[in-house]
Amino acid sequence: MPSPFVYEEPVASGDLIDRTDELAALRDRTSEGRNSRLEGPRRFGKTSLVRALLADAEREGGVPVEVNFLGCVTSADVAERIERAYGRQLDGPLRRWFDGLVRTFQPTLSAAPAGVGVRARPQAGAPGLLDRLSLPRRIHERTGRQCAIAFDEFQEVLRIDPALPGVFRSELESHGAAAAYVFSGSHPGMMRELFADRRHAFFAQASPIELGPLPPDALAEHVTARFAEGRRDPGEALGPLLDAAEGHPQRAMLLAHHLYQQTAAGGEADVETWTRALQRARREAAGEVEVVWDTSSGLERRVLRTIAHRTVALTGREAAERFGLGKSGSTQVAVERLVGDGHLMPDAAARSGWRLVDPFLAAWLREDQ
Ligand SMILES: Nc1ncnc2c1ncn2[C@@H]1O[C@H](COP(=O)(O)OP(=O)(O)OP(=O)(O)O)[C@@H](O)[C@H]1O
Ligand SMILES: [Mg+2]
Repeated sequence: MPSPFVYEEPVASGDLIDRTDELAALRDRTSEGRNSRLEGPRRFGKTSLVRALLADAEREGGVPVEVNFLGCVTSADVAERIERAYGRQLDGPLRRWFDGLVRTFQPTLSAAPAGVGVRARPQAGAPGLLDRLSLPRRIHERTGRQCAIAFDEFQEVLRIDPALPGVFRSELESHGAAAAYVFSGSHPGMMRELFADRRHAFFAQASPIELGPLPPDALAEHVTARFAEGRRDPGEALGPLLDAAEGHPQRAMLLAHHLYQQTAAGGEADVETWTRALQRARREAAGEVEVVWDTSSGLERRVLRTIAHRTVALTGREAAERFGLGKSGSTQVAVERLVGDGHLMPDAAARSGWRLVDPFLAAWLREDQ
């Protein structure tokens, strides 16, 4: 039996560990037509949760639409991404109505002067975008059904042009009961900037739902049950696995996958099985870990090293002597950048008050000295 642990893509709702409270909160808000924003570091299960929510909304009679903005670089891309998402996810009579309707919309691209071909409109308020954003209102008018819409990787919209969220707001504000939106994104800093800013009152009303690490008991139960279904037992490897994952959902599944692969059917994992699994998991994640390191400044690297050591405070002699951390002002700026980029999260138990989001990066920094 192949490994049952998914770690490379969003998980199906049957594989979701925990998250019942978060899902219930999202479900309540969505059914009341309220908007939410889903906050969490990369790979903490935002997309998986959003998909579980949309599946529920559909069962309740809503129209689910998931739009992922990753890779969009112009407002025309954004408009097209929305149009394609509806095209893929609507079906039956609604789909046929949609196929006719989109042909009445302004095009998302404007033709350049003769011979140059087609080029994206540079301005934020490309009229084609407003047409596509109006779809939930039109669906509601036609069918009386409410749309449940997930705008995933929403920080991309902000990156394109700071004025673009204003275009969204101008249309979305009028949706009332026609739609409930969930905004999620993998850049906590940009998401917070948009959603906490009073000038963007519309977005500020989208209540935050936070995804933290997964609790060890829920992880232990899931891993043990999945091993048992494959006639295996995680045995004494389970404790070290939970410690190494630190509740990071994707790292936990990556470790569980390799442990499963290393454990024979009908067998039980031991310390050697665990060592091999850990090595393989870390080898697989090495590229990602190095990218974070390579793209960090000298100061950020010193901050990461200090925080990875858990028992060292950011200000004080030890941080200065062991890791070369100087003035607290610039350290604070580096911490804020790392938090904004989603590499650090608060941890009251650590001397610095922070911990690295990725336990593999932290382990590597603790060893590599
Ligand atoms: N609740 C969960 N139960 C089980 N596995 C989970 C859970 N949440 C996340 N994962 C693991 O994390 C991986 C990534 O999940 P997902 O793509 O939903 O996260 P994301 O936050 O959307 O990530 P990204 O920031 O890359 O878009 C999954 O493949 C799975 O291994
Ligand atoms: Mg995602």
